[in-house]
Amino acid sequence: MTASRIGLGITPTPLQATPRLGSALDLDLCVKRDDLIGFGVAGTKTRAIEQLLADAIDQGCDRIVGCGGPTSNFCAGLAVAGAVAGLPVDLVLYATPTAAREWPAHAARHAGASVRFVEVAREHIEEAAADVARQLAAAGARPYMVPRGGSTAVGASGAANGVLELSRQLSTPPAHLVVAGGSAGTAAGLLAGLAAVGWPTVLTVAAVSRTVEETTAKIAALAPEVATRLGCPEPHLAQLEVHDVRGPGFGRPDPSGNAMAELALEKEGIILDPVYTAKAATLLRRLAAPGTPVLFWHTGGLAAALHASALDRKETP
Ligand SMILES: Cc1ncc(COP(=O)(O)O)c(C=O)c1O
Repeated sequence: MTASRIGLGITPTPLQATPRLGSALDLDLCVKRDDLIGFGVAGTKTRAIEQLLADAIDQGCDRIVGCGGPTSNFCAGLAVAGAVAGLPVDLVLYATPTAAREWPAHAARHAGASVRFVEVAREHIEEAAADVARQLAAAGARPYMVPRGGSTAVGASGAANGVLELSRQLSTPPAHLVVAGGSAGTAAGLLAGLAAVGWPTVLTVAAVSRTVEETTAKIAALAPEVATRLGCPEPHLAQLEVHDVRGPGFGRPDPSGNAMAELALEKEGIILDPVYTAKAATLLRRLAAPGTPVLFWHTGGLAAALHASALDRKETP
């Protein structure tokens, strides 16, 4: 299983035994620390960005057009990666009342990306970005268009390669692999990766922004494309379980996620973010059964976690 890539992250990321958190949750728990991947604060998305930039370069493109929300870790990572690779990045972000103050939009500008805010609903941001790409092409550029979260077969191949990396670190497959799902590229790549290494592990996905049906449909569409691209066996949808963990809504912290973030910090010194990983980790409670081997894929989100605690401090002096 190989695919062209440019190196941004430091891999393999650590596989950490987490006995104290595991015993608090009645699980034999390990954590794949992609939050420590070492490229900006992009976490697992670094794996997708490596694939996408390599593809853009292979296709002779001379700039990247990305899109998403102003709080997108992926967009911030893409902007930094473009700077590192010497490819200009244009980001098209949907406007929110606090958009210009959100750290990812801010970080992207610092990295030299051009950032446009457009007044469209989240689900229409790709059309707005395609307009920008068309304007750039009309002016003579060769833009490479990246949809939300970089969740194409190309981007998702990065997570599939992550499972290959994991299979070299872990001799027996876990019963469950738990991960946060937004645009679902990470989960699609992981499902393809599980089939590639022949593991019967159940992929337990925490849907943080979309319904269970939408998330499942995206994974079901994308995972086979990843497998085709990498020349791997068909992924098994029967190994996929998706749960709704949106709580009060995407980007809004919920009490059970906050409690899980406190527990992970107290037991193992692991920081979970309120948008993705803390909500995803709440699924660990559902799997509780002594001795069950479970792997939690820590996708990152560090900047949002620190930003949230900075806001907390402002509110409680
Ligand atoms: C920290 C973190 N975890 C999980 C995800 C979800 O990944 P995906 O959009 O591939 O489902 C994201 C998306 O940006 C993220 O930033």
